[in-house]
Amino acid sequence: MHIRDAAPEDDGLISQVIEDAFGQSDEADLVDALCLSGDTVFSLVADDAGEIVGQILLSKLQAPEQCLALAPVSILPNRQNQGIGSELIQQSIVRAKTEGWLAIFLLGEPAYYERFGFTTYAADKFETEYPKSYFMALELSPNALAPLAGRVTYPSAFLSLG
Ligand SMILES: CC(C)(COP(=O)(O)OP(=O)(O)OC[C@H]1O[C@@H](n2cnc3c(N)ncnc32)[C@H](O)[C@@H]1OP(=O)(O)O)[C@@H](O)C(=O)NCCC(=O)NCCS
Repeated sequence: MHIRDAAPEDDGLISQVIEDAFGQSDEADLVDALCLSGDTVFSLVADDAGEIVGQILLSKLQAPEQCLALAPVSILPNRQNQGIGSELIQQSIVRAKTEGWLAIFLLGEPAYYERFGFTTYAADKFETEYPKSYFMALELSPNALAPLAGRVTYPSAFLSLG
């Protein structure tokens, strides 16, 4: 199993992985919309001998500046709890740091995402329409979010997700 950048020819398989993971098509539609709108920063897949078993997408927030949104992460149901999601998230963090982004925001279960360093505390001073108890951030360098404030604005494709 290795993690690599998604290629254009992976699109159909990626949509299937996302639909299978979530049991609905909304998140796959979101990924398509983010790619079409040009808001995708990078998309990684977990490739097991040619089979795509997981995918993660990082997109550029409209605000705060130089920050990313992590969503969605999708692992095929029969491949969950084998560390694949963790590997995709860890490699995304490394990639985002290398590219010089300031922070990553996400909406998710703290019980899962805290292990990667995300905290609701880091996101707390920012305004959002999402529930604060699930709204998390990870600074990619010490105090990267200190000078920033205001509303976290997702790419417009997220509006259709509800
Ligand atoms: C959530 C998801 C991405 C995690 O990936 P994964 O490869 O299955 O998880 P990993 O093997 O990396 O980690 C397993 C650990 O995560 C925990 N975990 C998995 N999903 C969780 C959730 N929704 N909430 C809290 N903990 C969760 C497991 O209990 C396990 O904990 P442990 O290490 O303490 O035993 C994957 O299960 C998935 O695709 N789920 C359906 C889609 C989804 O909900 N995506 C996330 C929102 S964008």
